[in-house]
Amino acid sequence: METKWIHFENLQEKEEILREAAGIIRQGGLVAFPTETVYGLGANALDEKAAKKIYAAKGRPSDNPLIVHISSVKELDELAVEVSHAGKKLAEAYWPGPLTLVFPKKPQVPDGTTGGLDTVAVRMPSDPLARKLIALAGVPIAAPSANRSGRPSPTTAEHVWQDMQGRIEMLLDGGSVGIGLESTIVDVTGQIPVLLRPGAVTMEMLESVVGHVEIDPAIQGPPKEGIRPKAPGMKYRHYAPRGELTLVEGEPGAVAEEINRLVKERQEEGRRVGVITTEETKNRYTGGIIRSIGERVHEETIAHNLFAVLREFDDLKVDYIYSESFSQENLGQAIMNRLVKAAGYHIIRV
Ligand code: TXA
Ligand code: MG
Repeated sequence: METKWIHFENLQEKEEILREAAGIIRQGGLVAFPTETVYGLGANALDEKAAKKIYAAKGRPSDNPLIVHISSVKELDELAVEVSHAGKKLAEAYWPGPLTLVFPKKPQVPDGTTGGLDTVAVRMPSDPLARKLIALAGVPIAAPSANRSGRPSPTTAEHVWQDMQGRIEMLLDGGSVGIGLESTIVDVTGQIPVLLRPGAVTMEMLESVVGHVEIDPAIQGPPKEGIRPKAPGMKYRHYAPRGELTLVEGEPGAVAEEINRLVKERQEEGRRVGVITTEETKNRYTGGIIRSIGERVHEETIAHNLFAVLREFDDLKVDYIYSESFSQENLGQAIMNRLVKAAGYHIIRV
C-alpha cells in the first residue's frame, strides 16, 4: 500500500483533503492524524474489520482496546449506555481536551474496538483538524497512538512516517503536537472515578472537579502477579526505547555524578551511551550523547520533548540511556509514568 503524506498548504485545500480522509475512514481504511496529545491512527470505530486493521498496522495485541474519538458531546449517546454524574462533570470541564473517559458500552460498539470489554473509552480531542475529520467522517473514530507497538508515541508526522509508511492509506501532517503525552484516562463507571493513565489533565485538575479520585495500582509500580490493570494497555512494556534506559533519582549534584560515572564505565566497555537531562542541569555532564528535554520550571516542555528524544536515541542506536528523574506533582506524574515504564521500572536512587 502506498501511504499519502499530506502537508496542508491552504485552508481551501484542507477542507478538500479532510473530505478525502473522511471518505477513507468511512470505507474502512486507516488515516493517521494529529491530536493535541500525540498522533492517532484512525479507523471507523463502529466497523469491526476496520478496527482489526489498526491492530495489524501497529503490530498490537488485539486484547488492548482502542480509544474512540468524537467531535461533539451528543455523539456519546451512540457509544455509552449511561453517563455517570462524575463522567458528566469531567466531560463538561475538560472536553474538548486531553481526557479520555471510560463508560459502559452500547452493543453497537464492536468487540474489535473494545478488546472484548463491556466498557468503551471515549475522548473529544481539542485539535481542530482532528475534530473536523471526525465530524466529516460522520462516524466515531477509533485511534490508538500512531506508532508501531512498543515504540514511543509519535509527536510529529515524521515519527508516524517512520513507523507506518506503507501500512496506512493517508497521513495528515499537522506539524508537531502541542502536549506530547497521551491523554489522561479516567474510569467513571463506578462510584468513585479511577485514574487509569496520568496525562495533561492532572490528578489535581480531576479532583478539583469531582473530589476524591482513586489511582489504579498499575500506574504506580511494576505489574504484580494476579492484579490486572484496568487499562489493559498498561500491562505492556510501552514506549520501550531500543537502548536500556535507567532513571537516576536524587539531589541534582549526586545524580550528575552518578550518571557521569555510569557513562564512563559503559564507554570503557565500548558502548554508546545517551544522557537525558534538562536546561537547568545539562552543564553538569561530561560524556555520552547529552540531550536536554526541556526546562524543569516549565514541565510542559519536558512532556513535549520526551518521546522525540527517546526516538532520537533509537535512531542513534545507543546501547544505554541514563536519565534524570522528575517530581511526581502535576504533569510530573504523567512524565514519570512514561519514563519509569520505558525504563522497565529500573531506577537508581543516589
Ligand atoms: O492521547 C491519546 O489518548 C491518544 C490519541 C491518539 O488520542 N491515543 C492513545 O491510544 O494513547 P492508545 O491506544 O495508545 O492507548 C489507549 C489506552 C490503552 O492503555 C488501553 O488499554 C486503554 O486506553 N483503554 C482503551 N479502552 C479502554 C477501556 N474500555 N477500559 C480501560 N482502558 C481502556
Ligand atoms: Mg499507545
